[in-house]
Amino acid sequence: TKEARVAVLGAAGGIGQPLSLLLKQMPIVSHLNLYDIAHVMGVASDLSHIESRAKVQGFLGPDNLRPCLDGADIVLIPAGVPRKPGMTRDDLFNTNAAIVRDLTAAVAESCPKAMLGIITNPVNSTAPIASEVLKKHGVYDPRRAFGVTTLDVVRSNTFIAEAKGLDVSKTNVPVIGGHSGITIIPLISQCTPPVSFPPEERVKLSMRIQNAGTEVVDAKAGAGSATLSMAFAAAEFCKSLIEALNGQEGKVQCAYVRSEETEAKYFATPVLLGKEGIEKNLGMGKLLDVEVNLLKAAMPELIANIQKGEQFVGDSK
Ligand code: APR
Repeated sequence: TKEARVAVLGAAGGIGQPLSLLLKQMPIVSHLNLYDIAHVMGVASDLSHIESRAKVQGFLGPDNLRPCLDGADIVLIPAGVPRKPGMTRDDLFNTNAAIVRDLTAAVAESCPKAMLGIITNPVNSTAPIASEVLKKHGVYDPRRAFGVTTLDVVRSNTFIAEAKGLDVSKTNVPVIGGHSGITIIPLISQCTPPVSFPPEERVKLSMRIQNAGTEVVDAKAGAGSATLSMAFAAAEFCKSLIEALNGQEGKVQCAYVRSEETEAKYFATPVLLGKEGIEKNLGMGKLLDVEVNLLKAAMPELIANIQKGEQFVGDSK
């Protein structure tokens, strides 16, 4: 197995900790660098006792951010504040936008060739923020910057497999668009294996997938948003990325990336991963009329979210 040096920024958080645990368990990870502004030395110490290959190191506070990033192949960013009941992902914008901007600036300086996965919400805006920051530093490569939307696929797979009594490990539903509410567009018509639903049931299922984040926020009743399922999804995404970097062919993941598929500059679709990141955008395929309608409904919000992100970086020049 080759080396894969992974850095997690925000590693002591509700997502960061289980994500770090899952990465620590992967034999393909050689180094796991954990950064946070609080509590991270304890997390790193704890994880470092696990008998798996990855060498774990903690990095606490801004002075240690650059050392954390040195030599990273992949950087995952779940740093930020989570959503509380009644908040939309967009309400998080101001705090999290600044966090992503500043962390990405450090990535641009310390490991400009790293693959970057943005988890911090609102991803529809924070992924464009990261890209704009990389651009400002002259190191932007759209093949290497991702908004992590794997959780939307994970949820779709789970809910559809449950509804149809399928083996979930063999169920795969592409999800396109963005990562918030109506911008999430599950392509149920492209599910493997093929499934069909009466129209009403299909609508309900789509809506449940779009609102699944809120389902968790409400159930957690003030304690935050999805952490364990998000960590699982991000670890899956990261695993595909590492495997592709190491020369495995045919790795496909849905991700929110710079795109020419639609009039939105960033758009999630299945992408083929390779040694340099995105090898090919596989596009959205042929949509059913109902899916075209979901897409139409998503576009204004998605485009506004992207503009908000770009504007934020523009304003902070
Ligand atoms: N640099 C590094 N880490 C930071 C910074 C920063 N500037 N600001 C906050 N953090 C850390 C916190 O110290 C905390 O450990 O980010 C972590 C966030 O953890 P939680 O508050 O538990 O939030 P979590 O549920 O993990 O969600 C984080 O991911 O999906 C998104 O919507 C979610 O935007 C939210 C983010």
